[in-house]
Amino acid sequence: MSAQPIPTATPSRLVSAALADGEVVVTFAAGVTARFTPFWLRDHCHLPASLNPDTLQRQVDTFSIPTGIAPARLAVAEEGRVLRATWAHDESAAEWPADFLFEVAASSGRERAPARTLWDREAMQGRFPTLAFSDVMASDSALRDWLSLVETFGFALAVGAPATTEATAAIARRVGYIRETIFGGFWDFSADLAFKDTAYTPVAIGPHTDGTYSIDSPGYQMFHCLQHDGTGGENTLVDGFKVADVIRRTDPAAYRMLTTVKVPAHYLGDGVHLRAEHEIIALDRDGEMRQVAYNNYDRAPFLLPAAEMKEFYRALALWDGLVNDPAYEVAFKLTPGTVLLFDNWRTLHGRRAYTGFRRLCGAYLNKEDFDSRRRVLHSALR
Ligand SMILES: [Fe+2]
Repeated sequence: MSAQPIPTATPSRLVSAALADGEVVVTFAAGVTARFTPFWLRDHCHLPASLNPDTLQRQVDTFSIPTGIAPARLAVAEEGRVLRATWAHDESAAEWPADFLFEVAASSGRERAPARTLWDREAMQGRFPTLAFSDVMASDSALRDWLSLVETFGFALAVGAPATTEATAAIARRVGYIRETIFGGFWDFSADLAFKDTAYTPVAIGPHTDGTYSIDSPGYQMFHCLQHDGTGGENTLVDGFKVADVIRRTDPAAYRMLTTVKVPAHYLGDGVHLRAEHEIIALDRDGEMRQVAYNNYDRAPFLLPAAEMKEFYRALALWDGLVNDPAYEVAFKLTPGTVLLFDNWRTLHGRRAYTGFRRLCGAYLNKEDFDSRRRVLHSALR
């Protein structure tokens, strides 16, 4: 172990490492202790023969590691930045960066749900998370901030955009790949019933998420109204996680139904038959909200035992009543120059009826591509 003093400003520096009860116990400068089995450590060795330094892919043959593997020696090196070991069975060396061990110990290697601000109409106070289109296009830190706003609130606006499909597609591509679906890639439409979907008519559309019939529902959706010569047509948004949280606190039985019953949905027509199942409120392994999926128009027939079916309908009515309650809704008229990006796994959207000619363009983006961009920007601009 190094005799150098450990800088307290670097909490991930190692202070000590020792074998105890068959496990490697390490203590970090932050004062925290973590335990790793020797087998896990061998599987995650960072020497180039074990972890490809270019691709960061595992090169260890996990299944040839002796089950009783144990270190003969352990050493904290490089002023606490590295843990080294020599394995007892073959005297081979192993090495791990302290940062790696610290991070994986802190998170168990799992990504946690991001910090979110749940909102209703009163909390939002008509002030919407907004950045300038030109900043988001020109600056990676502004793009990072825009994505962070979407993560925090479930939506964000970019103002001052050229009212063109090209500019809208360009900001979509700043975020991720434009997703191809049955509706095409980048879309640009008016009320012409081009597809068998109410989005292509001027009638009001209640709050819903898109792609409940898709196994991987679109993660994000972008709207840009390029032209509207008429009245109405305000877009509405509802924070589905806020409504879910209200039900969690006030009606645990309904919450249990909404978080456990997988509701099938389908899209039929245009030579397509899509089908998928989602809980209305899907939770992650920590019990945190991961995705809401709700479109009552597209729900497919399914049957539960009578008592459960009754309880499901009660829970569904509670959910539908709340997402349609104006207290949980924000509404704004999208005008040319304002691009809306929202999280389709969290934020329900709807639209009031309208008159006149209205032209809207936009795109779907995949959840994983948005998340990838966010991670890359956060680590590059750290
Ligand atoms: Fe929609």
